[in-house]
Formats: sequence, C-alpha cells, structure tokens
Amino acid sequence: MRVVFFAPTYPVEMVQFTRGLAEVGAEVYGVADAPKESLPKGLRDSMHGYLQVPRIMDEDDVMNRVSTWLKGKSIDRVLANWEPLTIMAARLRERWGLPGMSVDTVTAFRDKQIMKERVKAAGLRVPRSMRVRTEAEIRAAAEEIGYPLCLKPIAGAGSADTHKVRDAAELSAVIKLMRHVEEASCEEFIEGEEFTFDTLSVRGVPVYENIAQYLPKPIEMRSQEWISPVIITVKDMYQPRLQPGVTLGRNVLKALNMGEGYTHMEWFLTPKGEAVFGEIGCRAPGGHLVDQMNYTSDIDLFREWARVACYGAFEARAPRKHNCGIIFKRAIGQGRITAIHGLNHWKQMAGPAFVDEQLLRPGSRRRDWMQTLVSDGFVVCRHPDWNEAYRLSMAAATDITMYAG
Ligand SMILES: Nc1ncnc2c1ncn2[C@@H]1O[C@H](COP(=O)(O)OP(=O)(O)O)[C@@H](O)[C@H]1O
Ligand SMILES: [Mg+2]
Repeated sequence: MRVVFFAPTYPVEMVQFTRGLAEVGAEVYGVADAPKESLPKGLRDSMHGYLQVPRIMDEDDVMNRVSTWLKGKSIDRVLANWEPLTIMAARLRERWGLPGMSVDTVTAFRDKQIMKERVKAAGLRVPRSMRVRTEAEIRAAAEEIGYPLCLKPIAGAGSADTHKVRDAAELSAVIKLMRHVEEASCEEFIEGEEFTFDTLSVRGVPVYENIAQYLPKPIEMRSQEWISPVIITVKDMYQPRLQPGVTLGRNVLKALNMGEGYTHMEWFLTPKGEAVFGEIGCRAPGGHLVDQMNYTSDIDLFREWARVACYGAFEARAPRKHNCGIIFKRAIGQGRITAIHGLNHWKQMAGPAFVDEQLLRPGSRRRDWMQTLVSDGFVVCRHPDWNEAYRLSMAAATDITMYAG
C-alpha cells in the first residue's frame, strides 16, 4: 500500500495521521513545503519518502512535481486531511486513475453554495442562501432572504469574515468590511444551539460517529476575545433531543456521495427541536477534536482513519465512555505570557477528570486568537456524566486566567 499524503507536517495533528498510516502498514510519501531537516524525527520515521515543494497551494505545480518524483512507482492512494488540500488530492487521484472521491464530489464538501444546493436537493433542511459577488448582489440577496442574515465567505474557515447582520444599516457596515472577500454566501440566520456531527465513513456510511457541542457558537467564540471557547463531546449522542442531527448527518453523507475517510459537519438545533444543516468538510475536524474523540471512546482514531482510508476497514471497538471537554484560553494583555492563575486549583477540583493541559508558559509569545482557535493553549477534561463534564469545563473557562504584558 503506497500512499501520497499531503501536508504531513501541518496542522500539527497531521503528524499523528502520518504515524497512523505507517502503523497500518502503508508506505507513506509525504508532500509539504517545510524543509526536510525541519521535520520532527518521529514524523520522518513514519515516512518512506518526503518531497518539499516551494508552494503547497499551487496545485498544478505540486501535481507536476509529485508526478515527476514518483515516476515509475505504482501509487495506491492519494490522501489529504487538511481542508485546503482536499481538492488537489482528488485532482491527483483523477489524473492517476486511483480510487477515492472525485473532484466533483470533494467540491461539494468545499464550496458552501454547491454543498447546500445538493443537501437541499435531497430534501434536507438548509438555511436559505444565495451566492453573492458584488455589493448589488448582496443587497438583492438581503431583500430576498430577509433579516437577520449571515454573510460569510463561500470557502471560509474559522469564522473569518463571518457576520450576523440584523438590519440594512448593519448590512452597509458589513459590506465595507467584506470588500476583500471575492465571493460570499448570504444566508438566512439560524437561531439555536450549534453542534458538530463527525464521522469516519466507509462508502459513505459512518463506522464511527461523534457529536460535540460548541459553547458558545463559533461565530461568537471566534469574534469575542474575552470568551474561553468550550467544546464538549456528547457521550450520550443518541439521546432523542439530538437524534434529528444524527439523521440529518447520515443523510447529508448520502446526498453528497461521501466515500472513505473523515467528515466534519456543523448543524443547528433550533428551539423547536429541528436540525438545520450548517456546513460539512470531508476531512478530519481540527482544533484537537480528534483527541477529544479519542478520550471519549478510548480509541486511536488517527490510526483507525488510516485503516479506513487505505483498506476501507474499521475493526476497533468504540464505546462512548466520556463527555470530553476542551477549553481554549486567551490571555489578558499583549506580548508575552506573564502568569497563569487558577490552574492548580482547577486541576485539583477536576481530579481524575483532568486529562491534558497545554497552556503557553510564562515567557512565551501569545498566539493570534483570531488565526487559531487553540489561542494561548487549552485544558482538557472528561467525565461520564454530562453535567459534571459541563461544570468542570465552565469552571476552567471562568476560573483559569492567563496574563500577558
Ligand atoms: N446561516 C447561519 N445561521 C446562523 N449562524 C451561522 C450561519 N452560517 C454560519 N453561522 C455561524 O458562523 C460560523 C462559521 O460559519 P461556517 O459556515 O461554519 O464557516 P467556517 O468555514 O468559517 O467554519 C458557524 O459555526 C455559525 O456559528
Ligand atoms: Mg464551520
């Protein structure tokens, strides 16, 4: 089994996926823009070969270089688990005639308008939406869709340039802020709670499923610095209240012709109990959610993904034992971290529910919270009882404080 894996270096969890590929017996050929010498040793050991390319986003250039590099070798799979590279992986599969999802299929997991059209065509509930490119189109779409609405880039990430718009005056202000965005989606704003539906799938059917709740919703956690974003996996994900989301999620995979690998969907649960589609990607969820799923089920989903992606097989036992909460922290002040307060107290309170802590230490430079959800680090806890996992997570959000200056 020879596998080309794009970006084994970035984001950080890709190192783990590369390890997973090696562990299931794949010969891994990594392609990324980092110099070979800069790769961590563990990562180098997981790969059979590595090609450094000058620009990983330049699809034609990368495909040509990889083709030249691997000339004469038979390759079995081309994989990518980082969203911006999923289309390139599909293009290379098509060029080489390999199994896996086509460019057309992957495009529907990438382009938010095509995505919603296909999901809607299958009779599933999506926000009403229109693709908009100019100011005139935005205003016309706002007329058509009404307020409140959501304006966001058609192929965005991390809630960048995503706005809730309540009336025409706010629309004018937001239009000014969005001048640099070439193509946007103008949508009916869905009120309610927001969840993920994550899967590892084989021929479009989930072999592992997960639901996590965003507290608060990404549009809020990504726009207010004072918030400590919390995400908790739901152990009891098949409870009746969440069943509409599970049903929606499974049907979305069918509608989009999912093949093998990870999916990460977001959906809204309205006050009336209806599940409404948000968006979906055919790649692993980011922000350490794979780690959270591992802590939820005591499993190694980095390796199990590799087995699914290479052999279409899933054999692991995956009981849902815990609700696993991650809490991201943002320091007060700019520059370098000076102090962390409340951490030891929280760890004592959590006791055996404490799982992991990776807060930046005093002296480290703050990360840009707008660019990365991980912000200035995180703590992780887990508990079989939802209320206890929730209580501990909220306590970490409010009682652990980081300072910078
Ligand atoms: N139609 C909508 N109604 C309500 N909230 C929305 C809508 N679209 C997006 N959002 C909010 O904005 C966030 C980011 O939008 P999303 O489409 O998920 O883009 P991204 O690729 O940046 O994650 C969502 O998680 C949600 O909180
Ligand atoms: Mg999203």
